[in-house]
Amino acid sequence: MAGEEVSNKQVIFKDYIVGFPKESDMELITSKIILKAPEDSNGILLKNLYLSCDPYMRSRMTKHDRPNYVESFLPGSPMTGYGIAKVLDSRHPNFKAGDLVWGVTGWEEYSLITSPELCFKIEHTDVPLSYYIGILGMLGMTAYVGLYEIGAAKKGDRVFVSAAFGGVGQLVGQLAKLSGCYVVGSAGSKEKVDLLKNKFGYDEAFNYKEEEDLDAALRRYFPEGIDIYFENVGGKMLEAVLSNMRPHGRIPVCGMISQYNLEQQEGVHNLFNLISKRIHIEGFIVFDYHHLYPKYLDMMLAHIREGTISYVEDVAQGLESAPSALVGIFSGRNVGKQLVVVARV
Ligand SMILES: NC(=O)c1ccc[n+]([C@@H]2O[C@H](COP(=O)([O-])OP(=O)(O)OC[C@H]3O[C@@H](n4cnc5c(N)ncnc54)[C@H](OP(=O)(O)O)[C@@H]3O)[C@@H](O)[C@H]2O)c1
Repeated sequence: MAGEEVSNKQVIFKDYIVGFPKESDMELITSKIILKAPEDSNGILLKNLYLSCDPYMRSRMTKHDRPNYVESFLPGSPMTGYGIAKVLDSRHPNFKAGDLVWGVTGWEEYSLITSPELCFKIEHTDVPLSYYIGILGMLGMTAYVGLYEIGAAKKGDRVFVSAAFGGVGQLVGQLAKLSGCYVVGSAGSKEKVDLLKNKFGYDEAFNYKEEEDLDAALRRYFPEGIDIYFENVGGKMLEAVLSNMRPHGRIPVCGMISQYNLEQQEGVHNLFNLISKRIHIEGFIVFDYHHLYPKYLDMMLAHIREGTISYVEDVAQGLESAPSALVGIFSGRNVGKQLVVVARV
């Protein structure tokens, strides 16, 4: 197969957008590719197996007029993101044909990665491969870093997690429970709320879409206040949380998905709580914590093998379904971590 010219289905990013992303912002085309890494390169030629749909990709669909933590997509080029792939050909000393890798790849059947610094060889294959774009990849690390490095979670803490049934949230709650915390999550459907309590062991969960008064909902579940708020959504939820934080509470700011598609972001009107309650609030980006990955991987592999942590994926079939799968996460259509199967090993 290596060296052969084959057709290559690709998901092309059409142009920069404002507002909610739509399937029509992306286009499926078929081009050709030679399954060979150029001889004078350091590149690797990949057969893509799984692709990850992540909220930060929305930011890449915007043309930023100031420096941003992620690069914008290039209109007319394939989308890129985290994926899992098989190496078909390699000119890089760290990889050889047949290796399985996770890291940044293209939204296409085959990708030539010219500088594979963001690709990592998969060493443990006794767990599902797809886990490397979720619980065993960037996503799981995000939950871990936010909860422990920023939130300093400890036994007895009262923890609130928003977007609790997303890829990050499901892990935050379970890790917090394993650390002896009281954990409550919010999510956008009854199905998700039931699963949070019955599958992931959250002490309580509620459907934020059915609560007219978020402040009252939080008071119901946290009569003594919140020690750690794992922030995934921003906006009105952040405002309600600030009124319910305990003195010296911590807020790891992981994401603000409720704001990503707004032309004008919402204001938060009770920031004085940060002062009066001596709250520690800190934004973080998981890329800055890559040095912790080996330790995290060992810990999470053990949990998966022992069955002490559960993990739910929402699996879309085929590259054709990728645009719809990506768009769906911004309305909560995904039940669990959203990924796309491009091919089987
Ligand atoms: N800082 C970092 O390094 C880092 C890394 C990864 C992710 N993140 C952030 O972490 C957050 C969670 O990511 P994820 O990968 O877990 O997401 P995900 O699995 O893709 O799930 C996203 C969920 O967010 C909820 N949501 C969507 N729009 C919403 C809105 N307007 N208001 C409230 N909830 C909304 C939906 O669930 P419902 O049904 O509950 O509405 C949706 O299923 C995101 O904000 C993301 O940007 C940050």
